[in-house]
Amino acid sequence: MTQGKVLCDLGFIGLGVMGKNLVLNLADNGFNIAVFDLCDEKIEGVIEQDTIENTTCSPRVYGCSSYTELLSQLKSPHLIVLSVPAGAPVDQVCEKLISAGIQSDDIVIDTGNSLWTDTVAREKKYKSNFLLFSSAVSGGEVGARFGPSLMPSGSPYAWTRVKPIWEAIAAKVNAKTGKPIERNKPGQVITEGEPCAAYIGPAGAGHYVKMVHNGIEYADMQIICEAYHILKSGLGLSTDEIADIFEQWNSGVLDSYLMEISVEVLRHKSVDTGTALVDLILDKAGQKGTGLWTAISSLEVGCPAPTIAQAVYARSISSFKTLRVQASSTLKGPEPANLSNQEQQEYIAQLHDAIYCAKMCAYAQGFQLMKLAAKEHGWVLNFASIAKIWRAGCIIRATFLQSIAQAYERDEVLDNLLLDDFFAKQLSERQLNWRKAVCGATMFGIPHGALSSALFYYDSMRCEILPANLLQGQRDFFGAHTFERIDKNEGKKYHVLWSTTDRKTIVID
Ligand code: 6PG
Repeated sequence: MTQGKVLCDLGFIGLGVMGKNLVLNLADNGFNIAVFDLCDEKIEGVIEQDTIENTTCSPRVYGCSSYTELLSQLKSPHLIVLSVPAGAPVDQVCEKLISAGIQSDDIVIDTGNSLWTDTVAREKKYKSNFLLFSSAVSGGEVGARFGPSLMPSGSPYAWTRVKPIWEAIAAKVNAKTGKPIERNKPGQVITEGEPCAAYIGPAGAGHYVKMVHNGIEYADMQIICEAYHILKSGLGLSTDEIADIFEQWNSGVLDSYLMEISVEVLRHKSVDTGTALVDLILDKAGQKGTGLWTAISSLEVGCPAPTIAQAVYARSISSFKTLRVQASSTLKGPEPANLSNQEQQEYIAQLHDAIYCAKMCAYAQGFQLMKLAAKEHGWVLNFASIAKIWRAGCIIRATFLQSIAQAYERDEVLDNLLLDDFFAKQLSERQLNWRKAVCGATMFGIPHGALSSALFYYDSMRCEILPANLLQGQRDFFGAHTFERIDKNEGKKYHVLWSTTDRKTIVID
């Protein structure tokens, strides 16, 4: 620490893009931070940036050259924020802090996208060494700098210490309108509005909720991408025309950060070719794992989340570029659509409604998944509060989240968003257009797994009787798995002696 002896409010380890911006955000909000990273240039980088942006007369960010020095520069009990990649790096840093002499009443906050079960295990593992608290962060680098959405969980005592800091740096929302309060300049501090930071629950709960946020993010992105694909390859619209349509959609019920950035991406021209950059980007999607974890969890919990899972599959399919190129020349599809101008306009309106309906279903899946997981793990999640902290700062931020918050305020034990009056009405009014859009995409030969899996979800949920009766019959036939009868008492199990001539039904006790 070269800039002089000041005991800092908190320590910060990991100065990648997210870490650096969180440090500057903390500094803007009046906190002194001792920082450490294995890479010296990153330490110098954040100090340099703070010197440029700092309008006060004293330094706010102090560089440290070791874990021991970092601990020695903090007020006690120490508060240390980690912004390191999920997985082994978190444990490596924790072990280093133990060697450097961290105390049992010190708090370490993991802000990475850790797997929630790792967080639960870590809280136990390091219990005698320090208090592991976690706080997932959403919002990317701009969110981290000017106000992220924060999903803290772990020891309630640790939360009392973290809360004022987190509420200061989080994105803020106008409570009445549900709209974000803008903050986009270094030095700018927002003290009004509702902070997008709320205690989620015990260890692991916050990371679970962030994981589901990302699962929903995958679905939301895929829905938009399918609409782009249909407009481009089904209707033959230009990239600029699609950007215009998305821009218009972004001012109505589809208003969201993801729609907004899609317009920006579509409009951006490559400097070297002068053409739309999006047309030059290789169509192979990456993924770091949180969408996959959500899909796996939905299968484990037994909660249908087909649109989220479909979004993960869509990324996997995209990665098979060579195979797709090969298949594109051999597998036959429909002839190109030849819609009149009026038919095209009608289709675009139907597609708009399809996106909205699919989006409602994707969020319904995510919220139901959190509800069932909470039941399984003994967490008491406040879904209105979760929807509220997603109204600003995070990647899925949208005014739409205000409607979800209101649904859970109307009924805090709501089983599924589709049952809420507002959402039921929105879906009922638009479901016909949704079907037409899905039929159109099928006839154009454009893949639309997210739009149609959401429709499958919607139709399954509103089906009083599903063909699982036949399925139970099949299971009983080959495996004597038994079935219940609708004309007998619930819970009573029956089996048909299928291999006998009289195929008698017997009761299984
Ligand atoms: C966020 C993002 C963030 C990150 C994702 C990207 O909420 O700020 O979700 O967590 O951008 O991990 O995930 P993929 O690389 O899997 O798309």
